[in-house]
Amino acid sequence: MPDFSNFLEVQTRTPWGRTLADFADFCAPPPDSVILDVGCGPGLLPLLLAQSGSRSLGVDLDFGLLAARLAPNLAQAGALRLPFPAEAFDLVTASNVLFLLDDPAAALREWARILRPGGSLCLLNPSDCLSLASAGTIAQERKLDGASRESLLGWARNAEEHARWTESETGALFAEAGLILAESVLRVGPGFARFSRGRKPAAQAHPT
Ligand SMILES: C[S@@+](CC[C@H](N)C(=O)[O-])C[C@H]1O[C@@H](n2cnc3c(N)ncnc32)[C@H](O)[C@@H]1O
Repeated sequence: MPDFSNFLEVQTRTPWGRTLADFADFCAPPPDSVILDVGCGPGLLPLLLAQSGSRSLGVDLDFGLLAARLAPNLAQAGALRLPFPAEAFDLVTASNVLFLLDDPAAALREWARILRPGGSLCLLNPSDCLSLASAGTIAQERKLDGASRESLLGWARNAEEHARWTESETGALFAEAGLILAESVLRVGPGFARFSRGRKPAAQAHPT
């Protein structure tokens, strides 16, 4: 697993913070939603999601990152074994996490398990147009330096070493977990990030 020990700086002092704000807007949780952000790092996304009047929690495997604690409700847990009962959340989010995992299909099944029927799963992952070359071009055009440049290039390096899913590949992964892909859009510069929303089908009413 790559080293994410600089993620407090990445979330609070680079353009990544704006990307997380855009992603929170994309997630658009209705007020009073109960939300879990998986792989939250220091917790900027749970903090942003709580601004809509929702109750948001975050979990991450890395206790050191959680110690920075930008949001109040953070806990240590692994993405594939979440300490929550089935159907506990209206919205589950994961930003820049699924693409890193060795078994993304198992992670999606676990995240679908804790979603209530009719609930949403929103993901941010690198798109297939993110590469070291394309990130280097944008970093130069935008005169990025310091942590902003390093975090963009580090993201591109991780993307090249892990998965970058197209819309149809994302739809297939969701379907394997019993989720329906409702929306998938490209964001960040020329489209480096794919924001995707899946829905867990509402419970069927059984005729009596
Ligand atoms: C690239 S960082 C993204 C952090 C944050 N979501 C963001 O977008 O700013 C990936 C995060 O996933 C966490 N992570 C990696 N594998 C994990 C796992 N199996 N379970 C929980 N968290 C994990 C890392 O500790 C790290 O905080």
